[in-house]
Amino acid sequence: MISLKQFSYPTLSPSILSMDNTKSAQEIDLIRKSGLNFVHIDIMDGKFVPNCSFSDAEMEVIVKDSYELVKDVHIMVVEPWKLIEKYASFGADIITFHYEACLDKEHVLNTIKLIRNHGINVGISISPDTDPSVLDPYINDVDLVLVMSVYPGKGGQKFLPNSLDKIRYIKNKRKDVVVEVDGGINGETAPLVLEAGVDLLVSGSYLFGHDDFIDRAKGLLK
Ligand code: DX5
Ligand code: ZN
Repeated sequence: MISLKQFSYPTLSPSILSMDNTKSAQEIDLIRKSGLNFVHIDIMDGKFVPNCSFSDAEMEVIVKDSYELVKDVHIMVVEPWKLIEKYASFGADIITFHYEACLDKEHVLNTIKLIRNHGINVGISISPDTDPSVLDPYINDVDLVLVMSVYPGKGGQKFLPNSLDKIRYIKNKRKDVVVEVDGGINGETAPLVLEAGVDLLVSGSYLFGHDDFIDRAKGLLK
């Protein structure tokens, strides 16, 4: 298992949902060229969220192009426990599932255990309408907490400021858990989440599709 403790934070996990799929190798290479270690891969099933992304065939290409990068897989799916095996075999280094996709405590604990048994870092995510205190019972069993700062499902949405208090809440509960924020991160919102104490910033549409990806990535962490 890759230890998340070996990296220095805060850092970025660029979301390839916004990349040009026809040149995935070059797009993912921009992450390396920016001196970054994480690649954020969003999986959507068309049920937990209306959209679908990435197919198994696309996932194979992504994993191949990502080689040494930390594959930060965010699964926005119903019944996440059914898909752990599959994304483990794709070589995920982190699997983050949604608290809201679980019906009860047993589902949450089982999903955590399944991910852990594959030797993969465990992440749990909360959507914008979920109170962070629901994670209190699990905070010591996970490696990462992902605070969604937009409604899950697509890139390019506006950052929701109620995520700032959620970041602070989680950090107060446990200092050494990696706190990740996802959605609407750009030059204006990055300083706010950094100030709140976030470790890992996901950014998609602000980085991909722009000629100055590397400068933008560096600027976000300043
Ligand atoms: C949204 C995804 C995000 C998305 C972020 O559901 O989880 O990772 O790609 O995109 P931006 O950075 O454009 O908000
Ligand atoms: Zn995501």
